[in-house]
Amino acid sequence: MAETGAKRWNFGANEAVELSCSQNVRYFLNLLADNLDGGGGGLAVAEYLSLDLSYEICPNDVHLTAGCHHAIDVLISTLAVPGANILLPRPTYPMYDSRASFSKLEIRRYDLLPENGWEVDLDALEALADDKTVALLLINPCNPCGNVFSRQHLQKIAETASKLGVLVIADEVYRNITFGEKPFVSMAEFAEIVPVMMLGSISKRWAVPGWRFGWMVTLDPHCFMKDSGLVHSLANVLNMSTDPTTFIQGAIPDILGKTKEDFFSSKLEVLRECAETCYEEIKKIPCITCPYKPEGSMFTMVKLDFLLLEDIKDDLEFCCKLAREESLIILPGRAVGLKNWLRITFAVELELLRDGLSRLNNFAQRHSKKQP
Ligand SMILES: Cc1ncc(COP(=O)(O)O)c(C=O)c1O
Repeated sequence: MAETGAKRWNFGANEAVELSCSQNVRYFLNLLADNLDGGGGGLAVAEYLSLDLSYEICPNDVHLTAGCHHAIDVLISTLAVPGANILLPRPTYPMYDSRASFSKLEIRRYDLLPENGWEVDLDALEALADDKTVALLLINPCNPCGNVFSRQHLQKIAETASKLGVLVIADEVYRNITFGEKPFVSMAEFAEIVPVMMLGSISKRWAVPGWRFGWMVTLDPHCFMKDSGLVHSLANVLNMSTDPTTFIQGAIPDILGKTKEDFFSSKLEVLRECAETCYEEIKKIPCITCPYKPEGSMFTMVKLDFLLLEDIKDDLEFCCKLAREESLIILPGRAVGLKNWLRITFAVELELLRDGLSRLNNFAQRHSKKQP
């Protein structure tokens, strides 16, 4: 826990990690390398992320990881000090939940509200936190809900987090994958209000998940994370872990700096059409409702109405029967924390998507209660 000036922050160094750093060759090599010129992949990443921002990110604040998953691993391990807890969204990207549980970091879940365009239930979030709450997670654009958070709402989240003394983990792995009204705004814009750990990777925007390259950026203009010892602990956990492969690191300046704009725009056009098709086709299925038209990421959440269904008792049974009868795989909502919902991925070829949605419709009709 850190007392920085008048402000009290709940996060801090991880003592267990600090004890292990002197046994690490990489720790000393990095210490020496800090005396050399040149930023390598960190520099490229800092330049790329600064393009959309009102300020420049410093390359020293960029930590390279083997994809965003690796960043999650490292960050959650670092935050997991005895007695600490973390605020995770419901529904969620469940990797955070399993990683936190495994590290014995207590999970407290705050709701994203479908009736409010999947915005954060800020009052409930405040009520969940205490002085052991170290961080809150926000995924924007959102997996699994497909919404994009507005600038105003992001600011409110940042202000709430600051009031609670917790840092914000901004998972922006779907950065710039937006195709609706709202533009993508990075949580990095609010780092003056609250310390932000920004996570991302090339997996989604470049559609290369197997290349395993990502980043974790500490946005900490007032040095709250640094002075608390958290940044040092984070570096030590990274030292005990793996690096992204060298040949991808070598290619990163070109990947980030030279990909043509039409590569992205054509992909977004396809996603926009898929999201639209998904939303319109779901409307035709009586027992399924989509509360919010997706405008980012690659997913949407839809709700099952069991009053209209017969011989199916919950989301898991629905998905198992769907797989058996229609050879169609859809994730049951419980896998992302919302029982009796479904998470639909629309990032597939349009013809396949249409085929899948028509199978879903056939299945739902077959299992609907018959009118007397
Ligand atoms: C919200 C979110 N964060 C992180 C990841 C992991 O990304 P990566 O492939 O870069 O490890 C994913 C992948 O699906 C994701 O949806």
